[in-house]
Amino acid sequence: MEQQFRAFRVHQDESGFRSGVEQLDVSKLPDADVTVRVHYSSVNYKDGLASLPEGKIVKTYPFIPGIDLAGEVMASRDARLKPGDRVLCTGYGLGVSHEGGFAEVARVPGDWLVALPEGLTLREAMAIGTAGFTAALSVRRLLDNGLTPGQGSVLVLGATGGVGSMAVAILSRLGFAVTAVTGKPEAREKLTAFGATEVLSREEAASGAKGVLGKERWEAIVDPVGGAMTADLLKSVRYGGSVALSGLTGGGGIETSVYPFILRGVNLLGIDSVFCPEPLRSELWQLLAGDWKPERVLNAGVTEYPLERLPEALNTVLSSKAVGRQIISLIN
Ligand SMILES: NC(=O)c1ccc[n+]([C@@H]2O[C@H](COP(=O)([O-])OP(=O)(O)OC[C@H]3O[C@@H](n4cnc5c(N)ncnc54)[C@H](OP(=O)(O)O)[C@@H]3O)[C@@H](O)[C@H]2O)c1
Repeated sequence: MEQQFRAFRVHQDESGFRSGVEQLDVSKLPDADVTVRVHYSSVNYKDGLASLPEGKIVKTYPFIPGIDLAGEVMASRDARLKPGDRVLCTGYGLGVSHEGGFAEVARVPGDWLVALPEGLTLREAMAIGTAGFTAALSVRRLLDNGLTPGQGSVLVLGATGGVGSMAVAILSRLGFAVTAVTGKPEAREKLTAFGATEVLSREEAASGAKGVLGKERWEAIVDPVGGAMTADLLKSVRYGGSVALSGLTGGGGIETSVYPFILRGVNLLGIDSVFCPEPLRSELWQLLAGDWKPERVLNAGVTEYPLERLPEALNTVLSSKAVGRQIISLIN
């Protein structure tokens, strides 16, 4: 096995905080059953935080971040996997407490790996990544709670972001009318290309309600934003509708009242992609490779960077300038 590989590492020590691409030896990787030659990784909001000294994601330094990876098994002590198998990994401790995907080689427990489903390339798997998986989990939970196409519109917040753009593409593919909410007026055309039937500014989407409830406007909401927007938009979900809440780019606190829940039967659904259990995890990846494949974002919303340009991609996501998904190639 090749002993040396390139990785993006963050350091926090007596010389301060720094990061960059380094040459490492495989002996530096954590002990785990499966060694993977990583072909692609992707950039999520959490990776942006992991690249900051005050990000509160990374627990020990030096560390290789990257919460997603897809590649080929190089060596395995796990009987279920053999060299040459194509696999992907999102969540668990990857890129948080266990060295992650911003490296040409990674070592991970076999239980964390999903076999690459037929219908997806390794590149597409990472263009989907944690963000697309979270979008799929959100849609799945909304469907399980009674959402059906052909009624009103589903609202998607943070629509140009990773979770948002993927949710727009999946919902439109499933036949839903999708209203995309964005803080980027210039992205209107792009969001339409991703599958949005209507695009609203954050101000236009606001409930406008002075009291505890507003006009019933939305069948459901895919919400990776949180904070004041969630609190406000709960007032305009239709009777029996649901909000799939996955993120906090708009804030971690929600100040609301009981009225949407007790007068309209609104469901607030928590979405966690990190510890999503099997077999649901593999089922969602099968859907993402088939009937739910977010082709519109895969075709028009993916930007690829080499590992050396990772800081640029991290900055784009941290400054909320990214549109669609950003992937990191580790094969050139
Ligand atoms: N629960 C889970 O398992 C899980 C999984 C993945 C991600 N997440 C979380 O979900 C969130 C989104 O992740 P992501 O990877 O999609 O991030 P992202 O690509 O950076 O997208 C976030 C989007 O949110 C919108 N936004 C940013 N600041 C906002 C504000 N102050 N108010 C309203 N909208 C704002 C922006 O879209 P517009 O400009 O279009 O409005 C931005 O592009 C993060 O908090 C992340 O940690 C959670």
